[in-house]
Amino acid sequence: MSVGMLGKRGLYGFFLLLMILSAGCTTNNSVKVGIESNFRPFTYTEAGEGKGFEVELWQAIAEKANLKYELIPMEYRELNEAVKSGKVDLAIAGMTINNARKEKFAFSDPYFQTGLVILTASDNETIKTEDDLAGKVVATRLGSTAYTYTGDIKGIKEIRGFPSITEAYDQLKDKKVDAVVFDERNAHDFIQKSGDGKVKIVGEMLNKESYGVVSKKRNQYIGRVNLGIEAVVKDGTYAALYKKWFGSEPSKLPGE
Ligand code: ARG
Repeated sequence: MSVGMLGKRGLYGFFLLLMILSAGCTTNNSVKVGIESNFRPFTYTEAGEGKGFEVELWQAIAEKANLKYELIPMEYRELNEAVKSGKVDLAIAGMTINNARKEKFAFSDPYFQTGLVILTASDNETIKTEDDLAGKVVATRLGSTAYTYTGDIKGIKEIRGFPSITEAYDQLKDKKVDAVVFDERNAHDFIQKSGDGKVKIVGEMLNKESYGVVSKKRNQYIGRVNLGIEAVVKDGTYAALYKKWFGSEPSKLPGE
């Protein structure tokens, strides 16, 4: 086919058609899903591959909801922006559902119940409860629910917020801070994998939090995600994945 045969306008039209067709193919309802590269055991990357309870749970949910998707690993601090700007359609990354966030984002139904805990040095005998944090230096991650929670505890000497929770954990290992407050399961995982016996969790969970899949307020996915969550709970997939990643049956299933 030569330009002569088609004419200039014909050629232009031909390319326009190509563009439309290829755009149609690539968007073809492949949902972009943000995950985090460092939130074990929920979502993390190993050799560039997304892994974790949430990655496998999402896979199961997406299957039930008949959603094609692409995982996009990023740093936690990029996730909110990515959801807002539409760089990703959804994110699954241990996001706690709360009222302040509901003003800006839409959340799915909760799929994981957890809470915050206090970590301190293994040989620390003075910190046992939240009240013992008075006069102490506490580290956590900036912008997390733990950061907000810690800010409300009376009498803390200093709160150090880090962009990555790894930095907070390292400060505790080096005894540069007295305690860390953060999400229970992630804290457990850190102690087991990288704590080197230097760190322990003390006391009970400080509060109750639930994780949800997050998206823009106006979105076309959360309804289907909720149906997917319901389906993976019903058919036993949820309990099986829970057992695989956390070593026990969930005491309560989502929706119960
Ligand atoms: N659940 C806490 C929050 O929502 C911590 C989130 C941790 N998630 C992560 N991907 N690093 O603030």
